[in-house]
Amino acid sequence: MNIQEPLQLLGGLSPQTFMRRHWEKKPLLIRQAIPGFRPILDRTELLDLAAMDDVESRLVVQAVPGKEKTWRMRHGPLPRKVLPPFKQPKWTALVQGVDLHDERIHALMNQFRFVPDARLDDLMISYATDGGGVGPHFDSYDVFLLQAHGRRRWRIGRQKDMSLVPDMPLKILANFEPEMEFVLEPGDMLYLPPRWAHDGIAEGECMTYSIGFRSPCKGEVAREVLQRMAEQAEDEAGEAIYRDPKQEALTHTAEVPQAMVDFAVDAMQAALRDPLALQRALGEYLTEPKPNVWFAGGAELPTGGVRLDRRTRMLYDAKHIFINGESFRAGGRDAQLMRTLADQRYLPAGEMARLSEDARDLVSDWCESGWLYADQ
Ligand code: SIN
Ligand code: CO
Repeated sequence: MNIQEPLQLLGGLSPQTFMRRHWEKKPLLIRQAIPGFRPILDRTELLDLAAMDDVESRLVVQAVPGKEKTWRMRHGPLPRKVLPPFKQPKWTALVQGVDLHDERIHALMNQFRFVPDARLDDLMISYATDGGGVGPHFDSYDVFLLQAHGRRRWRIGRQKDMSLVPDMPLKILANFEPEMEFVLEPGDMLYLPPRWAHDGIAEGECMTYSIGFRSPCKGEVAREVLQRMAEQAEDEAGEAIYRDPKQEALTHTAEVPQAMVDFAVDAMQAALRDPLALQRALGEYLTEPKPNVWFAGGAELPTGGVRLDRRTRMLYDAKHIFINGESFRAGGRDAQLMRTLADQRYLPAGEMARLSEDARDLVSDWCESGWLYADQ
């Protein structure tokens, strides 16, 4: 992708300008981001996905008229019999990670690959009957809301008061103060930075595609990275044993000796000393497949080019290649070729032929695991 070229998808802005002006800063409404856009999955196909065990889905229903204003939520799988009738207004089914299940949806999500892959999370599709939505709320991640079918009225605002309605099964802002309002038609798209309050209400039957970006919190990154580093800690810290030749006789023998504390601090620092260990753990964490992803057994290494399976996560840094939670040291031409594979998500036959024997063996293992396959 030429990141300096204006894109219809971004309302005539180049990815570079969009990132500078809008990303994490201010919303952008793009009329006809994808002209003539039609839903990729029809209602039946989407709801079939929502009924599957390995697909994450939710049903949100607002009280029927006459009853108290309230919300109900149910986690999937959502067999058809748990869904209200299509004639009943104000309910919505949300299907997460549709890109993992459909190649065309994955291809649509790839249009947003001007943002680091480490941030790109998933494509969620919502189906709503008239008046349906998930209520006024805010998210802690960036999102592009692409209207796929019917119309949706979005009200958005910077919202200072983040207090929520108590005792609700989903996060509903208690005092939503919208500042702007737009009605989106198929093909229109709205970009929202994290923590912008929003409320999208279906006007008639409606489907919206949300391209979401993950923003892990510091605590989660610390836990995930440390967990992985802990597995290596013994090797990194070494085998030196604790010694205390200067220890004196004590009466308060239950007290932890300061020398033991110092030894532990030293052991921790030794385990964390190698910055590459941290980078490895981070890359492994960032490429960990989603919990509901299973790779079916793959095939032998093809003679031609290869393409990453849509569910494969592949990243790299200066010293490593990361793929589906594993890390490999790579340098020289092999590293260059692997990076091309990660960036393009395919490697043509000519480039494959330039891989060293070791690297080919690795790619062959990945093929057998079903992480990549012959590029047709
Ligand atoms: C929806 O599509 O109904 C919800 C999307 C969102 O508000 O993030
Ligand atoms: Co939202």
